[in-house]
Amino acid sequence: MPAAQTRTGEVLEALNWRRAIKKFKPDAKLDAQELDYLKEALRLAPSSFGFQAWRFLFVEDPALRKALREKAWGQAQVEDASALVVLCREDELGAESVTRLVRATAERTNAPLKSLEGFESMLSGFVAKLSKEDAAAYMNEQVHIALGFLLFAAAQAGIDACPMGGFEKEGFDEILGLKEKGLRSAVLCALGRRAEDDAYAARPKVRFALDEVVETI
Ligand SMILES: Cc1cc2nc3c(=O)[nH]c(=O)nc-3n(C[C@H](O)[C@H](O)[C@H](O)COP(=O)(O)O)c2cc1C
Repeated sequence: MPAAQTRTGEVLEALNWRRAIKKFKPDAKLDAQELDYLKEALRLAPSSFGFQAWRFLFVEDPALRKALREKAWGQAQVEDASALVVLCREDELGAESVTRLVRATAERTNAPLKSLEGFESMLSGFVAKLSKEDAAAYMNEQVHIALGFLLFAAAQAGIDACPMGGFEKEGFDEILGLKEKGLRSAVLCALGRRAEDDAYAARPKVRFALDEVVETI
């Protein structure tokens, strides 16, 4: 089999293997290299215009994990997984976000700021038109792209994960002091190793047939 085909086969195998794990082995810790890999996958996620209006908090403190679990329908993954990532969006998308991105673009691409004036005014026009609610929804969407990258990267490395939206955002924001940091929680991801007796992991994957979800027109 040509190399590219072997690779795609392996990727799909990993995607079939991955499950939203409910029961993690509490004593199986991800090592520093694995954590760095996952953090880098998050950092490399794409976002609309490249805004990156997000921050990813890796919560290690056991007391915090315990308190957060209470605000996450008591779900055990929050406490038992090796890593818990709270994927946050920024509170606001405004002039500061535009300036930050334009400066970073100038630096990274060695472009004079003057040459980015068109880009800057386009971004400013875009953010100015968004209501606070629309901006929040827009940033939440982008954070979910990062979640997808994280899940995909984890699966490729044989790391188990559970994406989690079942939590009280206000409660999380309060416990983690997110408002003071200019952030809001969007979604969670628990990461680690599945327990051998995770019943869910043993269940066949439930997916609609290809022709029910993909259409060529
Ligand atoms: C955004 C999002 C939120 C989710 N929230 C939870 C959650 O709070 N708790 C949980 O156990 N699973 C959660 N899941 C997992 C889904 O139920 C699971 O991905 C889906 O049933 C498909 O199963 P699979 O991921 O094992 O293939 C969530 C998944 C996504 C993508």
